[in-house]
Amino acid sequence: MNRHSAIIVSGGVHPDLSASTAASLCADLTKLELKRFSNGERYARFTESVRGRDLFLIQSISEANEYSINDAILETIIIIDAARRASAGSITVVLPFFPYSRQDRKALPREPISAAIIVRALEMAGANRIVSIDLHSPQIQAVATIPFDHLIAEPTIIDELQKLIKTPHNTSVVSPDAGRAKESEMYANTLGIDYVIIPKKREASVPHGITHPEQVEGVAGKNCIIIDDMIDTGGTILSAAKSLKKSGAKTVTVFATHGILSNNAADKFNVSVVDRLFVLDTVPQSKNKKIMKDKLSIIPSAPLIATAIRQISANAPLFDIFGGKNYK
Ligand code: R5P
Repeated sequence: MNRHSAIIVSGGVHPDLSASTAASLCADLTKLELKRFSNGERYARFTESVRGRDLFLIQSISEANEYSINDAILETIIIIDAARRASAGSITVVLPFFPYSRQDRKALPREPISAAIIVRALEMAGANRIVSIDLHSPQIQAVATIPFDHLIAEPTIIDELQKLIKTPHNTSVVSPDAGRAKESEMYANTLGIDYVIIPKKREASVPHGITHPEQVEGVAGKNCIIIDDMIDTGGTILSAAKSLKKSGAKTVTVFATHGILSNNAADKFNVSVVDRLFVLDTVPQSKNKKIMKDKLSIIPSAPLIATAIRQISANAPLFDIFGGKNYK
């Protein structure tokens, strides 16, 4: 990292993630005053100069502490505006989880494309670059007229899986829907194990509206590993896990980059047939960890973010980190 120019700034949602990223870069966090007015409006002011500096703002867009997801977005925009007006040399906004990423197209007439408006708002506020991890729809990068660097958690997750898998002949990657088939195949090929795809159906008559086939071929006696980009309500994964166990799977272990676990999803996982859940800390996990204890393992995302910041700051290619696999 170019210590003379680059500085790290933390949004208010997940200061631990920013602090561990800064520590990986041997940098201090830039001083920023954040507050919330009594009517809910947000405020941000740099209490040290950022003039001419290459500023990296790390903000986890999530519901956490006293933030709603929309508060987190607005605070991000306000911090970018403050940085621009304070003459930062460049502003890179690092959103480990990109919000509204599932609203990436018009699926019904007269709908918004909310992910696109988030990209535009960041740009309009003054961001010069956006960085995010495991975008639900990588094509949302097309909306940006500034560089948009897409990081992937795959190498981090593969490291964990290699430590975990003791009997590869008896372990399969399971895709919880057709949309994850390509990713699941890629994980299985890298790990040298089988993969299975189980189709997801949306049904209005069941809770969460998601079902999977009652019987899944080829998983009896197997250790099944489901890898998804995000878990929100848990509907997809919990339904898939139930089918796998009913079909005789020995264990079901789940990996997700973004463990959103909204509402009472952590409680639902706790009492579910899922044996273990691994998530990165792209959104805060302390509340989920308290509920799920040893059933939840948290994989630090700071090393990945720090490596990307180091490369960007040195004008070095991200290709060196991912070998091009981040272009999906
Ligand atoms: C679907 O396309 C995604 O990959 C996730 O499976 C989905 O968004 C997770 O949401 P939930 O946990 O609410 O089923």
